[in-house]
Amino acid sequence: MCGIVGFSSRTKPACAPLVNGLRRLEYRGYDSAGVALESKEGIKVFKKTGKVAELDRLLKESLSDAEQEGFTIGIAHTRWATHGLPTVENAHPHVADGGGLALVHNGIVENYAALRAQLEKKGCKFVSQTDTEVLAHLVAVFDKGDFLSAVSQALKKVEGTYGIATISKRHPGEMIVARKGSPLVIGVSDGATVVASDVSAIVAHTRQVIYLKDGDVARVTPEGVDIYTLDNVPVSRDVQAVEWDAESVEKGGYEHFMLKEIFEQPESLRNTIRGRLDTVNGTAILAGLGLPPRDLASIRRAVIIGCGTSLHAGMAGKYLFEALADLPTSPEQAAEFRYCNPIIGPSDWAIAVSQSGETADTLAAVRESIGKGALVSAICNVVGSTIAREAGRGVYLHAGPEISVASTKAFTSQVTVLAMMALKLGRTRRLSREEGLGLCNEISSLPDLVSEVLKENDAIAAIAAKYAKVDDMFFLGRGILYPAALEGALKMKEISYVHAEGYQAAELKHGPIALLGAKTPVVALLCDIPGKEKTVGNVQECRARKAPVIGIVTRGDEEAAAHCNDAIFLPRTSPFTAPVVSVVAMQLFAYHVARIRGCEIDQPRNLAKSVTVE
Ligand code: M6R
Repeated sequence: MCGIVGFSSRTKPACAPLVNGLRRLEYRGYDSAGVALESKEGIKVFKKTGKVAELDRLLKESLSDAEQEGFTIGIAHTRWATHGLPTVENAHPHVADGGGLALVHNGIVENYAALRAQLEKKGCKFVSQTDTEVLAHLVAVFDKGDFLSAVSQALKKVEGTYGIATISKRHPGEMIVARKGSPLVIGVSDGATVVASDVSAIVAHTRQVIYLKDGDVARVTPEGVDIYTLDNVPVSRDVQAVEWDAESVEKGGYEHFMLKEIFEQPESLRNTIRGRLDTVNGTAILAGLGLPPRDLASIRRAVIIGCGTSLHAGMAGKYLFEALADLPTSPEQAAEFRYCNPIIGPSDWAIAVSQSGETADTLAAVRESIGKGALVSAICNVVGSTIAREAGRGVYLHAGPEISVASTKAFTSQVTVLAMMALKLGRTRRLSREEGLGLCNEISSLPDLVSEVLKENDAIAAIAAKYAKVDDMFFLGRGILYPAALEGALKMKEISYVHAEGYQAAELKHGPIALLGAKTPVVALLCDIPGKEKTVGNVQECRARKAPVIGIVTRGDEEAAAHCNDAIFLPRTSPFTAPVVSVVAMQLFAYHVARIRGCEIDQPRNLAKSVTVE
């Protein structure tokens, strides 16, 4: 969603780092962009609808190279519209104090209408429909000479969430930043201090970062940062080292981040698994869970909470937990969780799954679970993210930055982590050491199995070319392959805009089969695991309605392939590795369909990487 970048230096030009920082945040999804630059004369603001490239063009048309290099302090923003259309007026930065103060904001000011009415009575003039503009005016109204205190007083009036950065001509050299419910990171390097809502906009400058906590407000200068509470009490926050480097957020020669991330999966899975399998005792080592075997053994029920791809991983987790640990488990869609009086308490284990660790609905479900006394763990990719911190215990994916809006490597790592959790849990309950060792082997084999699938890329691209022009598709799976089918359909619809539905293979005949015909291809997950024969039966039902079937089939299983119009061949898997391995084929299939249709693969329309509004 929205992105913030701030840059503060005595000598280094700010324009290029601000624009490049925004480029790093493009993957989050946005519809306009803007920059505010501080100079001796005041604040200069440039805004554009559309892409960051448009903003860059505007800057180049408006300022000579020498002029651009003269600015050493500035703030920048990419906006994803919530209040008001994506127009230049609604784009950030927003200004107040006659243009002398500029502010960028991520999040939502819920009481903005009341605040706006009060400010209008005081004579403030508004030019946008946004909630953010009230923040700029509020800060200006409270500014009696101390910028940080003006921001703190303004923020105390706000109901809602914010990550902000603001500069003012009254306070040259000072940038004030703050967060509540929307991430903000400060990078500390020689000669410049860099601020961003996402660490990927910082790593080109430094890997030494400070993650602000909710309620922090900080004075950022070229020399560093001072952090306070909203009540002006100084606080200290650790400087942490980021594991990612700038190269790992580049495309590395691939046409799209999505393709790069699909091909990274053998490596990302190795990183997820590394050091976590105990091949002597046949269990998993997940120290971050912080749950001793006694606690694991006494858990009554697990709920796995997430949205989108992370929810699908959680659905696969249900099969793993129930099959390996006999633990009743329910996957829960995070946005609905708190609206149905969740019956959850001290003997229940709530597991939040989130790549970004910032998804507002999942965070709200974590808070609800903590409030009800449940054991809460998180499975996140982004280290230091809000969900990871609030859950307090959990397992990081170590999958590396996922830039493409369509989640790929996060899913395979999430399911792998859930498989390791099921193994650990199972060993405290009913799995023998030998069974545990067998599972360790299966999990360790995942990177190689996925490498095998990637070798099918050209064959998958050829099949995609045959079906790329259809309007509708169905994805069928049974058992643990049902969540994989849902994930295959989600990938297809979000990047190619083909209407795609995932179904349990047997459910099709309870209604959706009415839609089948020659123009509705069906992708059927026919990996050679228990239940396959029944899915073959469902495939025959589809063929009888003239629907072309693309089978995802175990290599050598010619019998299953013979029931399909086209077959994508995968290496042999166990039931526990099948969702990971089969999903990679469907990621490639969706990718090639989208590429042939000429879609904007990394930034699909209307979508944001991290959904930080409820
Ligand atoms: O960061 P999270 O894993 O919490 O994000 C959840 C969903 O928004 C996300 O998986 C979304 O469905 C992706 N676009 C799927 O590709």
